Amino acid sequence: MTERYYVTTAIFYANDRLHIGHCYESVIADALARYHRARGEDVFFLTGTDEHGIKVERRAAALRRDPQGWVDEIAGANQTLFAALGISHDDFIRTTQERHKQAVQRIFAQLRAQGDIYLDAYEGWYCPYEESFWTETKALPGHLCPECGRPLERTRETAYRFRLSKYQAQIEALLGQPDFLVPATRRNEALAFVRQGLEDIAVSRAGQPWGIPVDFDPGHTVYVWIDALTNYINALEGDRFGRFWPADLHIVGKDIARFHVVIWPALLLALGLPLPKQVYAHGWINLNGERISKSRGNVVDPWALIEQYGVDAVRYYLLREVGFGLDCNYTEDALVRRINTDLANDLGNLLSRTTQLINKFAGGQVPDPAGASDGVLQAVASEAVQGAEEALAQLRTGEALAEIWRIVERANKYVEEQAPWALAKDPGQSAKLGAVLYDLAEALRVTAAALSPFLVETPGRIYLQLGLDRAPAHWAETQWGGLQSGVSIQRGAPLFPRIEKVTKH
Ligand code: MSP
Repeated sequence: MTERYYVTTAIFYANDRLHIGHCYESVIADALARYHRARGEDVFFLTGTDEHGIKVERRAAALRRDPQGWVDEIAGANQTLFAALGISHDDFIRTTQERHKQAVQRIFAQLRAQGDIYLDAYEGWYCPYEESFWTETKALPGHLCPECGRPLERTRETAYRFRLSKYQAQIEALLGQPDFLVPATRRNEALAFVRQGLEDIAVSRAGQPWGIPVDFDPGHTVYVWIDALTNYINALEGDRFGRFWPADLHIVGKDIARFHVVIWPALLLALGLPLPKQVYAHGWINLNGERISKSRGNVVDPWALIEQYGVDAVRYYLLREVGFGLDCNYTEDALVRRINTDLANDLGNLLSRTTQLINKFAGGQVPDPAGASDGVLQAVASEAVQGAEEALAQLRTGEALAEIWRIVERANKYVEEQAPWALAKDPGQSAKLGAVLYDLAEALRVTAAALSPFLVETPGRIYLQLGLDRAPAHWAETQWGGLQSGVSIQRGAPLFPRIEKVTKH
């Protein structure tokens, strides 16, 4: 049976355009989706926009825009950006879509009918920025938000509450599983939080018109977590639900991991649905040590980077530079260093040298290895591909790329060691020369196939220069020996021109 793979990103708040930190999350999810597709699995990759709530409403009001018009614009802009970034999502859910609204209302009514949601006169402290309620005991001294430190507002209202407390034991047991939430540091934090005791949470607001109405109680709208979290099942219309639920992986930032490992499983338990298999809480992309965010005004515009350096350079940087689950301080210098060192010097040069050598010493055609190969590059390539598979099974894209670069580095060294220009001078070495050139071209072909989940243009460009008139399509192409002798190579432009000068954005 074909394996299935369902991966999601968070749905992005439609209060503003996306910055490079959001793109990081999308690019990880995309690399994993492409990897599983390349393995022949039935993949569903979901992303979308979170369009309700006070932040979005306030933003639209500040711009004198009607909220729907504003979120339409943002959802469109996000999709255009994702296309430019090569994001291969299968669906894009918007929380203002009818399919989502109706499903949320159904879920809300079911939870109410079975007693998991109850109406309560609620008094507490509200953070308009985080859109969360806090009890007196959870608020920080001076009534500041425990999440973001901003001043809380005293609220007194009637709200529906979800019986989160009822699921305490099950959530604790879930977090006891080693792989449900990775990395482990996040799991320990979440467990410590849950062990303090879960309190029921407000799931509706009164007098907040920009939201999904509670259809059986006008004046209330569903807010935040039931609206946002259920996107993951609401997008699975028709036979997709049976095919793809439970999700294999929710990829989210560490700031919202807690909602995904506490509230979301509790809602699913209440609905009698299976739980997602794994949540990956990635770190943040920071700028000058601070999390990038519009409210801090320190935004790196992904469009500018894509235009200046190309989509693959941006993807490579994000997938390679940021450690698994760790924060990463974005600098343009580090991006340029990755381009110049890894992409231009290592990979680009290897392709340029190899095609040049084949032109010069083999008449532009991939030679026959004729049993004369020493097997060095084949061994490195198969170990590296296996290493990349193991790294990807653990969601470690940086380590997977480092494995793939072992092929590139070894092949560059191999050129020096074998000195094809010297072999060419000795007619007795012609079989050896053919094998060396074949192995270099084949090492590049395997590299291109292995890069195909990560980069969107480069693998096809490498294949083309090696005389293959298509992009790599299947992970099985990472196996050694795919290149046919006699194929005419097509030497082309350098893959990644060196960046000489850094211009600051
Ligand atoms: N709408 C909620 C998520 C609901 S999911 C059911 C939300 N939206 S968000 O736009 O603020 O963030 C979306 C995702 O982007 C989150 O996973 C968040 O962690 C991630 N990031 C936001 N800023 C980021 C960085 N600077 N760096 C890395 N990830 C970042 O939260």
